[in-house]
Amino acid sequence: MNVSVSVMNISSPRYQEVWELREAMLRKPLGLSLKNENLDRDNTNTFFIAEHEGKIIGCVLMEPKDSDTVQLRAMAVYDEWSRKGVGRQLVQALEQNAWQNGYKKIILHARKVVLGFYKSMDYQQIGDEFVEVGIPHYHMEKSAPNSTR
Ligand SMILES: CC(C)(COP(=O)(O)OP(=O)(O)OC[C@H]1O[C@@H](n2cnc3c(N)ncnc32)[C@H](O)[C@@H]1OP(=O)(O)O)[C@@H](O)C(=O)NCCC(=O)NCCS
Repeated sequence: MNVSVSVMNISSPRYQEVWELREAMLRKPLGLSLKNENLDRDNTNTFFIAEHEGKIIGCVLMEPKDSDTVQLRAMAVYDEWSRKGVGRQLVQALEQNAWQNGYKKIILHARKVVLGFYKSMDYQQIGDEFVEVGIPHYHMEKSAPNSTR
């Protein structure tokens, strides 16, 4: 399958390629566009990309929230690559980076339709359903290994 996961610098010219992936997988199916959003928060995020033969096929962003916590966001894998373990590889890279950098907790807003994806990687569903980008979501979180919190 030969998929590699790496960290991409926000100033990379490939930012546009990641933008297109997010637009296609996270906004277009909802009739929305990133063009109408302020993406300033991207500037503080670490970008993880999955590549196959030079093309970006998946991404996830890690946003520091406080000294203990990061948020996993903008998780997307192109349809033709779904259910091949690419999403899991990206989440694992983000987790490794977060724990190595001393963060204790990863939080995220999971779309209801993909709760099973995060549950399969031991994320806990927290609290009540809420609406974001017009669709049902749940808060989820995972603590660092050996963390008591
Ligand atoms: C959700 C998404 C990121 C999953 O990526 P992926 O590469 O297909 O996921 P993987 O193949 O790594 O799957 C990992 C595990 O999650 C499970 N899983 C994947 N998609 C799932 C889904 N939609 N519902 C339930 N479980 C799912 C898989 O069965 C797999 O478990 P297994 O290894 O025990 O069989 C991808 O389908 C996607 O981009 N969807 C559209 C955008 C989106 O909804 N993003 C998430 C926003 S919160």
